[in-house]
Amino acid sequence: MNGRISTGVKRLDDCLGGGIERGIITEIYGEAGSGKTNFCLNLAIRNSQFGNVLYIDTEGVSGERVSQISGNSETISNIKFFRVRSYDEQLEAVPKVINVAPALENVIALIFDTVTAHYRVERDRRAELRKRYGNTLTYQIEMLNNLAINMDIPVIMVNQVYTEKNSIDVMPVGGSALSHMAKAIFMIQKVGQNRRDLVVIKHRSLPEHKKCAFIITGTGIE
Ligand code: GTP
Ligand code: MG
Repeated sequence: MNGRISTGVKRLDDCLGGGIERGIITEIYGEAGSGKTNFCLNLAIRNSQFGNVLYIDTEGVSGERVSQISGNSETISNIKFFRVRSYDEQLEAVPKVINVAPALENVIALIFDTVTAHYRVERDRRAELRKRYGNTLTYQIEMLNNLAINMDIPVIMVNQVYTEKNSIDVMPVGGSALSHMAKAIFMIQKVGQNRRDLVVIKHRSLPEHKKCAFIITGTGIE
């Protein structure tokens, strides 16, 4: 149990002690344009040669970017995209993916980019609605955590950030449910035009604040 899968980038794998852990939720958050989707697509595409990757997509992934990263790879069809366009679609999609996953042979990973996208829209509504949204989000996170454990696969959940008043620090959206359930949390930080750091926020076997550098390139990340 708790082996790892490669991020698809050797120097990130080396820095992370082997890659992304199986059997747990890993949360990745960062500001818009920080490279969360690039990280996920790169991981999905590089791992698709080994089996199926489930990819819940709320943003409408760029086919052009997928082609740039995958090149001529024929295993791209091993990535099963589930497009989620709204809050209601998300409520249906998560149980569907959870049902489909055990029936598929050789599932390498599940990626959810971005878990809170359709929740942000609802954030300012009435308190009782907010409570219900919070409950449905927690329920999805619990179901996906069970899937990670039962299938011994990594579940990677992308989250957005907000900034507290009078602070320059970015905080993950969605309250504490995800940060409690995720056994590993990384933040992606911009350090230059193409340069990024994957920063360890919470981990069971890596020191807090450890930084693993990568760059976004024409063909993915490296
Ligand atoms: P949101 O979904 O908006 O929160 O952003 P994200 O964190 O998912 O960012 P994403 O992975 O979409 O990364 C966007 C970044 O990738 C931008 O800084 C782009 O400039 C960069 N990028 C996209 N394509 C290329 C490329 O071909 N070459 C280079 N060098 N950078 C690229
Ligand atoms: Mg994105």
